[in-house]
Amino acid sequence: MKGVVLAGGLGSRLSPLTRITNKHLLPVYNEPMIYYPIKALINAGIDDIMIVTGGNSAGDFLKLLRNGKDFGLKHLNYTYQEGEGGIADALSLVEHFADDEPICVVLGDNIIENNIRAAAAEYRVQGKGAKILLKKVPDPQRFGVPELDGDKVLNIVEKPTDPKSDYAVIGIYFYDATVFDVIKTLVPSGRGELEITDVNNHYINRGEMTWNELDGWWTDAGTFESLLLASKLVAKDGANKI
Ligand code: G1P
Repeated sequence: MKGVVLAGGLGSRLSPLTRITNKHLLPVYNEPMIYYPIKALINAGIDDIMIVTGGNSAGDFLKLLRNGKDFGLKHLNYTYQEGEGGIADALSLVEHFADDEPICVVLGDNIIENNIRAAAAEYRVQGKGAKILLKKVPDPQRFGVPELDGDKVLNIVEKPTDPKSDYAVIGIYFYDATVFDVIKTLVPSGRGELEITDVNNHYINRGEMTWNELDGWWTDAGTFESLLLASKLVAKDGANKI
């Protein structure tokens, strides 16, 4: 399984912090934000990793991460997203990199206390389709929210005004190689982006979606409140525990 970190976009919810640099280069406690999703992949045994960047300071990722020596890697892959087409648009750029293998996609502003080893192992056994990770949150309106029926996820709604559960779909996803055909069928949402939630609903409609509940804390870091929370949680507990 290969790994993908999505680290593009303008980070407009963090302006002016993101006016001259990329959101994923901002500090979360004592490390740049993008270190955390890279470590989440490596802890799950995924070491062939593509960084998709774009927006401001795209060249600085190379300067910061080089060939991944700080993470024990010999090599890192990079690609560039033109424009602001959304998460699924960014993902479409890695089709050649995936080369028919399954992928684990991590949003560059998602940080976890523990690890995704169990979910990755289960997805390897699953062999096809997709897997999402869910976490109970006090503010589901900010996220993709699943409607559940026991073990089954019935659908996901992006930023619902009337959430059907207290779960957020966190920004760590497992997909087989058909994800790239799914993305080609998508149309931009109201916010002008190709939504990852639409990708996930395709897999649900095909009956090929599983989910796990993540243990330990999870947060994004894309707003002032969540960026501060992420730094506090990392300072208190550490992140990416094995
Ligand atoms: C994105 C996804 C959303 C998911 C969230 C997790 O939201 O669209 O479904 O719950 O990441 O961080 P965004 O941060 O682009 O608003």
